Amino acid sequence: MISRFSRQFSIGLFIVQWVVAFGDDHFSVYPNYEMQKQSISGCMTTACHGSNVPDTEIGQRAGKIWFDRDPHAQAYTNLLTNASARIVSRLVNVELKPSSQEYRDILKAKCVSCHASESAPDTQIAIGADCQVCHGSADAWGSQHYSSEWRALGKSRFDDTKMFNVESLAGRAQVCSSCHIGELNRGGPLDREVDHRLMAAGHPPMHFDFESFSRRYPVHWDTKDEPVGTGSSIGFERWRVGKITSAITKLKLLVARAERATSQSEVKHDWPELTEYSCSSCHHALVQPSWRQSGGVKSIADWDDWNVSQLDSAIRDHSVVELKSQIASLKSQIERAAPDPKSVAINAESLRRWLELELKQVSSTRENAVAIMLPKLQSQVEPFPKFRNWESAAQWYISTRVLSEGLGMKCSVDPIRLLMDDPFTDENRLWKPGPSKESNGPSGFQPDMLGNYNNELLKQLRKRP
Ligand code: HEC
Ligand code: HEC
Ligand code: HEC
Ligand code: HEC
Repeated sequence: MISRFSRQFSIGLFIVQWVVAFGDDHFSVYPNYEMQKQSISGCMTTACHGSNVPDTEIGQRAGKIWFDRDPHAQAYTNLLTNASARIVSRLVNVELKPSSQEYRDILKAKCVSCHASESAPDTQIAIGADCQVCHGSADAWGSQHYSSEWRALGKSRFDDTKMFNVESLAGRAQVCSSCHIGELNRGGPLDREVDHRLMAAGHPPMHFDFESFSRRYPVHWDTKDEPVGTGSSIGFERWRVGKITSAITKLKLLVARAERATSQSEVKHDWPELTEYSCSSCHHALVQPSWRQSGGVKSIADWDDWNVSQLDSAIRDHSVVELKSQIASLKSQIERAAPDPKSVAINAESLRRWLELELKQVSSTRENAVAIMLPKLQSQVEPFPKFRNWESAAQWYISTRVLSEGLGMKCSVDPIRLLMDDPFTDENRLWKPGPSKESNGPSGFQPDMLGNYNNELLKQLRKRP
């Protein structure tokens, strides 16, 4: 995609850092589609959020920033490109033109729940994923939110959950991951799902990482309490809240898929759904000799290492034992050749609930960030982990980078090009599927490719007083 979303990554000075509770409330999001449909034109007047004047308060320029630079403003028009036409045609096995009614019907059934705003009137679908997908229906915001009384309510102004609380990091990560990971049981065409069929047809994989996506996102709000970049604990705080929340969203999706497999519904879906597994445990280069054949991989496919690995660094230290035991139970169910959907659902739901409680604890405590980050980083780099797959290596890279930068370290070895496009500064897909060994991503993956990076982190850690 487009380089204007790139954000330079600056390494700030090391400051004493406290992880401050940002938001404690993992709220349930009121369904947007149950509200009166509203166009966002009312939000975009120059006196409100559509100002063009550079010096005005950022909130007043939010609409302009979104319109000019936000990837979500292109989300619908991108469904009409050649790339999308290829995806749609492969999906239904018929060559379809974007101008045809059949094509539009498929978009409506399979794509617009994420690529457009369910709160906007149908005639305005082309506006893409508008303000309402993240903030809640404009109908709920109504005329009250510019009163000083409402503003004075502070955090509790979002108690009416029809306005989504994206000020809370957990609430925000929940909103993003509904589309960037998926959410079912929203009702027919409103369901948000990119399954393996859609990925095999060419849809980019849902390799969502809240921290790196947040850094790439062109913000339209005041970040003084939320510095984008490093030298502050926000990276770590945002990463860990995002990591736990994403795991919760992914588990919710798994539970819904498992329940769907046992239901009597007419529409049949694949079970197990292959996107529940690490892509690279099936997609890898067929070469000999291979690290895979020397005992590296034992099960048919690993359960989703993208959302699960490094979760232990995100939670509290004394919760790790329980986490590992819960993950082991679920893995033993889902990594079978023919997983039983009922047992998978029970185990996944149990882990999801446990993580909800853990998230509450993590986001409501105030701790010395350095005291948390340092031992976490140390235990990640020594010993150098034996990665099972590309997903766990990529996650390890993301978390070590967040932690080391949070501790004020800078590494000259940047191995990321070997592993994937830089998740922090690139707008590119994290993984370009393809059989070519040269292409980054799983097919060229080698377990030791991050070794030099690890060595440098180790060296720097040893130098610390
Ligand atoms: C579950 C939500 C969801 C659904 C359903 C969905 N998408 Fe997407 N789509 C996304 C997200 C999120 C991205 C961005 C992925 C990324 O960058 O990590 C994306 C990216 C894309 C891209 C790449 C855009 C670019 O800028 O390169 C195309 C093309 C695309 N989707 C087409 C489709 C089509 C066609 C359908 C329906 C057949 C569809 N999508 C259904 C969420 C969805
Ligand atoms: C992809 C999600 C997303 C979309 C789309 C989005 N926002 Fe936001 N917006 C956020 C987040 C996250 C924040 C930061 C949290 C906060 O301040 O509530 C925010 C903050 C704001 C703020 C507070 C700014 C400040 O600091 O004073 C305003 C105003 C705003 N958004 C308006 C809009 C408008 C208008 C649109 C549509 C043109 C829009 N947003 C689209 C996610 C989004
Ligand atoms: C309504 C569904 C939806 C929600 C909610 C949503 N996104 Fe997206 N997002 C998309 C889709 C679809 C795309 C792909 C747009 C395209 O290129 O066509 C996308 C693209 C992006 C991209 C650009 C792709 C990339 O890999 O750099 C970023 C960054 C992003 N989203 C961040 C966020 C963040 C952060 C939030 C939450 C504050 C969020 N999104 C909420 C649907 C959504
Ligand atoms: C359990 C094994 C398995 C897992 C896990 C798996 N796939 Fe696949 N994938 C397959 C098989 C088999 C095919 C070929 C048949 C088909 O298209 O469904 C395929 C086909 C594809 C294709 C089309 C390839 C081509 O060359 O045409 C893409 C792209 C793809 N998968 C992406 C993914 C992504 C992304 C993930 C992880 C989210 C994933 N797969 C997980 C087994 C798997």
